Amino acid sequence: MDSHYNEKLNLVKDFLKKNNAKLIAHYYVDAELQKLAEDTGGCVADSLQMAKFGSQQEEANLIIAGVKFMGETAKILNPEKNIYVLDKEATCSLDESCKVDEFRKFCSDYPDREVVVYANTSAEVKSISDWVVTSSIAIPLVENLARKGKKIIWAPDKYLGAYIEDQTGIDMKIWDGSCIVHEEYKTIELKKLKKQLDDCEVLVHPESPRSVIQLADVVGSTTKLINASKSSKSKNIIVATEKGIFYQMKKLSPDKNFYEAPTEGEGATCKSCGRCPWMNLNTSQKLIDIFKSNNEILLSNSIIQSAKKSINRMIEFEDKYYQEKKKVS
Ligand code: 13P
Repeated sequence: MDSHYNEKLNLVKDFLKKNNAKLIAHYYVDAELQKLAEDTGGCVADSLQMAKFGSQQEEANLIIAGVKFMGETAKILNPEKNIYVLDKEATCSLDESCKVDEFRKFCSDYPDREVVVYANTSAEVKSISDWVVTSSIAIPLVENLARKGKKIIWAPDKYLGAYIEDQTGIDMKIWDGSCIVHEEYKTIELKKLKKQLDDCEVLVHPESPRSVIQLADVVGSTTKLINASKSSKSKNIIVATEKGIFYQMKKLSPDKNFYEAPTEGEGATCKSCGRCPWMNLNTSQKLIDIFKSNNEILLSNSIIQSAKKSINRMIEFEDKYYQEKKKVS
């Protein structure tokens, strides 16, 4: 953390208090913003937990350090609050790959299928879906639908879709989208790094290609990977997901060595660029300037109501699923 951190912290604390606001950050933004969220009573979490946390806050203004779909999800679950993002240009290649008109057309080709979309989609796409899911609950939810005899459309991540199919044996119609960060991890280089390190564990987000997932010891959402890095017995941890996540992992296990999974072959100038260009647009200066810019997330009431139904169905399913799991264990 830079030497001016305490100065910045005081400034941000005053700013948030004066503006009746709370800062909520995703694990992928830079370490400074994550620490500012923690030290000001906000939270750092995965995309769903960010929105859920927002609902429990008294403050009228929520400032989201993350990308657009995270701000939209917060707005959908908290329509009475004012939601701001640090940079309106901060988007997600998965969200961008799946425009609502084209997606509607895709869905109309399979009218007998339930539409399940990943959280990394626009509010409009969520509003025409039956279910929204995050990577943490995607497999049990798809399995549950299949048990009820439902056929499924999955969008937008083709790699996460393929992973779900591989794990469950359930055939889905899959949209052709991908994450520009996870898609870059390279199998040959990862194998070499594994060999070099010997005592290591490989943690992979399921937005990565199948060949990378096949080399993983643990596959899962950001929260699952953070927990796995803590409980791992290995000294060396290789991580295939956005590198903002290292801040939390290093905090939990200061004695472990963390390595970014390689993204380029030998000879390339950049061996590992696992950084999302849009997450990178989030800065603490933009936080202080937030009300000077036009960064509020505004959605029509009809979009909010329809999208909320699909998100709430997931939340209900998730709550029930974990309650049952607890009973069994
Ligand atoms: P999580 O839902 O696990 O936070 O992942 C969000 C994301 O954008 C992954 O690339």
